[in-house]
Amino acid sequence: MARKKRVTVRTLQRMKARGDKITMLTAYDYTMARLLDQAGVDCILVGDSLGMVVQGHDDTLQVTMDHIVYHGALVARAIERAHLVLDLPFMSYQVSVEQAVENAGRLMKEGHGHAVKLEGGTERIEVIEAITRAQIPCLAHVGLTPQSVHVFGGYRTQGWGDEEARRIKEGAIAAQQAGAYGIVLEGIPKALAEEVTDTLAIPTIGIGAGDGCDGQVLVVNDMLGMDDEFQPRFVKRYAQLGDVIRDAARGYIDEVRSGAFPSDEHAFLERPRLIKSHKICS
Ligand code: KIV
Repeated sequence: MARKKRVTVRTLQRMKARGDKITMLTAYDYTMARLLDQAGVDCILVGDSLGMVVQGHDDTLQVTMDHIVYHGALVARAIERAHLVLDLPFMSYQVSVEQAVENAGRLMKEGHGHAVKLEGGTERIEVIEAITRAQIPCLAHVGLTPQSVHVFGGYRTQGWGDEEARRIKEGAIAAQQAGAYGIVLEGIPKALAEEVTDTLAIPTIGIGAGDGCDGQVLVVNDMLGMDDEFQPRFVKRYAQLGDVIRDAARGYIDEVRSGAFPSDEHAFLERPRLIKSHKICS
């Protein structure tokens, strides 16, 4: 079968020029990434949201470089077409420009990313410039940047009022000038996201920023309905996998307890014939 054409930084820029919407979802493991790639999502983000949805923390601050490298490599193995972005975790790019470039390089070499993402605009100009100079595509992220949760005093939408809106718009322009090839706009008013999108030449990818962005991103666990207790306004659930998984597990538990599983259909009654696939036994 012919290999699928890889989505690249240039593809995303052409999509913005043509007005084609860009789709991005997070993934943290091989199986999920493979399904999303097969479905045709343009970009996969190994986000530091893994600190919350995989590791069970209240925020993303505990995520380390080793975590992103590990999950990046799992996801990279699964995808043929999608553009793979790996998050620079908290404190991996704030201490010095040198450290930021070194860590971005590690995400490309060991995590097999095609690009890195970092949070910030104006305050990260030097870092974005240096990463871009090192030939590493850099995606910026402004608005409700989760690594700043303690500065914001919670997960509060940003950009309300002229001063905050100006700061976000200037940050996005600064990121573009510094070399960012795209920018995530998170948790900002729809009108502000539209204005930023119209101002920038690079694609904007929104989450909780309305439909005026060049693309959209969601955390995959949220859009699949894996957590009943988390239903913020900006998330649309495209499935109720939490219910599906619980029902399946209950079915299994009931059948094992009643003796209905395994029946002879799922047992070896004769000596198995060896076949090539490592995944299938018969
Ligand atoms: O970590 C993450 O998943 C993200 C997206 C929500 C944009 O940064």
